[in-house]
Amino acid sequence: MIRPLVVGNWKMHKTVREAVDFVGRLKARLKEKGETTVAVAPPFTALYPVAEALKGSGIFLAAQNVCDREEGAYTGEVSACMLIDAGCEFVIVGHSERRAFFGEGNDLINRKIKAAAKYGLKPIFCVGETLYERESSETSAVVGRQLKEGLKDISASDAARIVIAYEPVWAIGTGKTATPGQAADVHVFIRETVEKMFGKDASQDVSVIYGGSVNPANIDALMAEQEINGVLVGGASLDVESFTRIAGD
Ligand code: PGA
Repeated sequence: MIRPLVVGNWKMHKTVREAVDFVGRLKARLKEKGETTVAVAPPFTALYPVAEALKGSGIFLAAQNVCDREEGAYTGEVSACMLIDAGCEFVIVGHSERRAFFGEGNDLINRKIKAAAKYGLKPIFCVGETLYERESSETSAVVGRQLKEGLKDISASDAARIVIAYEPVWAIGTGKTATPGQAADVHVFIRETVEKMFGKDASQDVSVIYGGSVNPANIDALMAEQEINGVLVGGASLDVESFTRIAGD
């Protein structure tokens, strides 16, 4: 049984003060929860103060990016080891915004996943097709390639600890959500691909979550699908009330 996971991806939003204030209120609201693993992904500047504010809360910390290198003269980069040191449990890797705006390809994403796994940081590995690719019936080909290249040469035990986030690019920040059925179909395909690559045990342990315009109005229908193990939430994670509702209030 895979425990449901809800991750709030704040993207480039919130100052340190706003981030700490947010998690203070979130902690109070989520006190009684226990069924769902909840994590927030603030920008780098707020990671450590948020880690301090989250102590004892059971809410986890995620980073939004990681360098593929371990240490050295790489101005502007942050390593997996530093993220662990700052209190992170997870790191988002391969988000479509990083692929589109910062030129990240499957090779680099593969190295980032390996760098994270080496330090015990759990990657939340994002995959998903564009609208053009969906309409050209290329969803499986695109997602299949992202999985094969992104998870190349990873051990089955590391693969089992990875969270895979299916995020159709056309549903991110657009208000268009994949129907629960559309998402579930791709989730089945993702789990089958993981099974082919790493075997049945790994495929049963991998958590496959959905992202793309998740909000309080559509969360119940999405989570009703057995194949959907959780959600990665952007816009609706910036507000305590809506994120609490999504995380199980
Ligand atoms: P959204 O973003 O919920 O604002 O669509 C999701 C994501 O980018 O992870």
